[in-house]
Amino acid sequence: MRGLFITLEGPDGSGKSTIIKLIGNYLEKKGIDFIMTREPGGTLIAEEIRHIVLDEKNTNMGKETEALLYAASRAQHVHEKIRPALEEGKLVLCDRFVLSSLAYQGVGRGLGIDEVKAINDFGVKGLNPDLILFFHIDPELTLKRKFLEDSPDRLEQEGSEFHKKVYEGYMELLKLYPENIKIIDATKTIEEVLEQSIGEIEELLTKKRE
Ligand code: TYD
Repeated sequence: MRGLFITLEGPDGSGKSTIIKLIGNYLEKKGIDFIMTREPGGTLIAEEIRHIVLDEKNTNMGKETEALLYAASRAQHVHEKIRPALEEGKLVLCDRFVLSSLAYQGVGRGLGIDEVKAINDFGVKGLNPDLILFFHIDPELTLKRKFLEDSPDRLEQEGSEFHKKVYEGYMELLKLYPENIKIIDATKTIEEVLEQSIGEIEELLTKKRE
């Protein structure tokens, strides 16, 4: 039986990376067979692409190149890791997926949601998450959190205008694709955010068992 594909989405600094680890601990305790992975990256080839796309030295990277690199990294990730794990019946927990490209490259960079979706459709061949947890938080708040960090990457260094556009992009996408997206209030405490995330995952697991 095919496994379950769950992705986490949201603006930079929305706390996804912290919560994904805690969700992993929870799944482990429950004895659920799962893998945890992230984008861009997740495999050797995809991590190499991640390095190119996020390297702060690559200031002259064209936006089309950026979108194609994210899609290429994703295609390799799906081919080498995500699809095989799902075919083995595993639960796959992934930090970011296609929705990030639609928000960051499609809207943030202004390439167009449909255009970016087309290159991703080519890359992932119809693979859609069963559940997307969207970590909802105002970009003004997240940017403050991020700039307290030591070494923001190339995308994180973009100005607040870019991150505002990405946020608006996500808001548009929530309306376009409401089916599998669950909104998590990421302004709450870690405990509350975790509880809400686990609640959504449990609901999906129950549905699968029925
Ligand atoms: P990541 O290191 O996962 O950042 P975070 O911890 O905030 O999730 O992602 C790196 C950056 O890449 C982040 O700024 C979002 C951006 N990104 C895109 O622009 N497009 C994409 O398709 C993906 C997956 C990430």
